[in-house]
Amino acid sequence: MKQRRRIYEGKAKILYEGPEPGMLVQFFKDDATAFNAKKHDVIEGKGVLNNRISEYIFTNLSQMGIPTHFVKRLNMREQLIREVEIIPVEVVVRNIAAGTISQRLGIEEGTVLPRSIIEFYYKNDALNDPIVSEEHVTAFGWANAQEIDDMMAMAIRVNDFLSGMFKGIGIELVDFKIEFGRLIENDTMRVVLADEISPDSCRLWDSSTKEKMDKDRFRRDLGGLVEAYTEVARRLGILNENEAPRPSGPTLVK
Ligand code: TMP
Repeated sequence: MKQRRRIYEGKAKILYEGPEPGMLVQFFKDDATAFNAKKHDVIEGKGVLNNRISEYIFTNLSQMGIPTHFVKRLNMREQLIREVEIIPVEVVVRNIAAGTISQRLGIEEGTVLPRSIIEFYYKNDALNDPIVSEEHVTAFGWANAQEIDDMMAMAIRVNDFLSGMFKGIGIELVDFKIEFGRLIENDTMRVVLADEISPDSCRLWDSSTKEKMDKDRFRRDLGGLVEAYTEVARRLGILNENEAPRPSGPTLVK
């Protein structure tokens, strides 16, 4: 079989050359990292679950008119996506205090924020993805003012949609991180939602028990990550009751 050209490998995904120019294949790995990859593990089945959950969310967001890079899911681990130029800014939306906002500002985890808060982080592993302001983003040319407006408007719509969607299945959307890319189409450039939205990039708490159903299970050594992601997928109605998220056959042990 012809070896596909690998365009980029990140911590949890690989991008391969697509079937035609302007298209890429996004492959979801089982790797889990935290604290800028200082902590790493391979969690069998995670990639399959994130592929399905992210497909479900991106499909719903597109139906609401939010432009995304997503084209279609190809198989258990891969999606066909449009090639975009990733804007090097991570956009975090927070509804409830947790993680770094709690640490940075001394707000107890679980405190409902007075309103949803949008933050920007500069996507740079060597610098540990530092938090930055809009001023930094425009001054250093990572995105222009119009692109910031577009990203913020989409972030608010994504938050409204996801908060409602998760609330309907008994899950609180505490916070999430999204990324955007520039898509060139017929000589015009527009900002579209890219990357993934999955329990790796969201904080999800069970509404009644407050149990964590996201990557904090790995970050905080709580265990049960695949079980939690499977439960998210099951509540979203995207896993058949008896469908196993774990691939069958031999697996690579690192
Ligand atoms: P934080 O509280 O660590 O700043 O994380 C905020 C949200 O962003 C949380 O849902 C996890 C997500 N996130 C990522 O998806 N990737 C990252 O690299 C980091 C630091 C956070």
